Amino acid sequence: MYSAFPLYFCTMNLAERDKKVIWHPFTVQKNMANPLPIISGKGSLLIDEQGNEYIDAISSWWVNLHGHAHPYIAEKIYHQALTLEQVIFAGFTHAPAVELAERLISILPGNFSRIFYSDNGSTSTEVALKMAIQFWWNKNMPQRKKILAFNHSYHGDTFGAMSVSDRSVFTLAFHDLLFEVIFIDTPTAENIEDIKSVVESNGDEIAAFIYEPLVQGAGGMRMTDPILLNELLATVKQANIICIADEVMTGFGRTGALFASNYMHHTPDIICLSKGLTGGTMALGVTACTDAIYQAYLEDDLKKTFFHGHSFTANPLACTAALASLDLLEQPMCMQQIAWIGQQNIAFAEKLAGKKGLKNIRTIGTILAFEIDSGKDEYLNKIGASLTAKSMQNGVYIRPLGNTVYTMPPYCISNAELCSIYDNIEQLIEF
Ligand SMILES: Cc1ncc(COP(=O)(O)O)c(C=O)c1O
Repeated sequence: MYSAFPLYFCTMNLAERDKKVIWHPFTVQKNMANPLPIISGKGSLLIDEQGNEYIDAISSWWVNLHGHAHPYIAEKIYHQALTLEQVIFAGFTHAPAVELAERLISILPGNFSRIFYSDNGSTSTEVALKMAIQFWWNKNMPQRKKILAFNHSYHGDTFGAMSVSDRSVFTLAFHDLLFEVIFIDTPTAENIEDIKSVVESNGDEIAAFIYEPLVQGAGGMRMTDPILLNELLATVKQANIICIADEVMTGFGRTGALFASNYMHHTPDIICLSKGLTGGTMALGVTACTDAIYQAYLEDDLKKTFFHGHSFTANPLACTAALASLDLLEQPMCMQQIAWIGQQNIAFAEKLAGKKGLKNIRTIGTILAFEIDSGKDEYLNKIGASLTAKSMQNGVYIRPLGNTVYTMPPYCISNAELCSIYDNIEQLIEF
């Protein structure tokens, strides 16, 4: 019988077959090491073909909250899949989307009134930028179209998201094509007055300020003081600029509070969510906005419609997964675990404080980070890849951002597993 599947594929293992047909994200392709086939996950563990177990110390790119293959979430997705797996979301609706929007609005930090669905973190920020820029256009103030953003920020990989992200190695090939953005440093006691005056002098042209509250993830787990950020937000709000909190990474407990914006008095007008939204099980993005923003779209002029959407907008399976994840997150046990990881991180950071070869040891909630003092502080610093390789031999998966080592485990992590992560780090930094 004719088979379109070449015979030689059958004799190759999965990693070899992968290398023939797959292009991996954020991965140098030349001389790429064999990717590791993972056959299952359980709790904080990833399990390979040989049965080796690895503690997922970075929650699989910051998405996983409650552990891998969680039976409660899996069961909910299964039942939803047998009921309604997908339906066009223009002119139709469904219970998981409505229920999720209601629940999110009740817990989000601010006065949000509308939930706009998309399908990942980049689309959630892309939607936020378009929503904010068109807000001013609808209000007949098209001159307000510049975006204010932080140096070292990362908001995703689509063109709008790249434009408002730091000009870095991630964006190098596209710089001429990115729109102009006013970049400012994150606030410190020394620079806060200067930054505020940049905002005040450009305020009339600025549509929106997009920021990763308290932790800039991909930019190197850079942490900002909440009091200073709050002070900056006050100035931004005073200038009538729309505040967009990108909580794609910080949302759902990562920083200790449910949202990083909970640490500040000044709440955003738009908030972007993804990653932990579904507990890390399915692709879903959310952009929530206040009623004041939504009102600008309630117009008779059809051209003022928000013409944006994705095929899988509000996918019922993803919304169901998000509802199940919220059920688990709202259990007192889960918030206790988050607080406990935070305490362990503080204790471990104190232990690391005296070690030579490390700098800038910091922690907030479930995130712990520091730099290895070797070579340049940058994403291309090769030490990260070698630390990943050594760490895997110890049964712990980490993926440093260049020389920035960090941990961000799932909330279900056990005491023994967390100790293994810390022991592993201590071994790695024995220079
Ligand atoms: C703060 C932030 N925004 C946006 C994104 C983009 O999300 P995604 O990778 O789902 O497109 C990320 C991804 O790391 C992120 O950390």
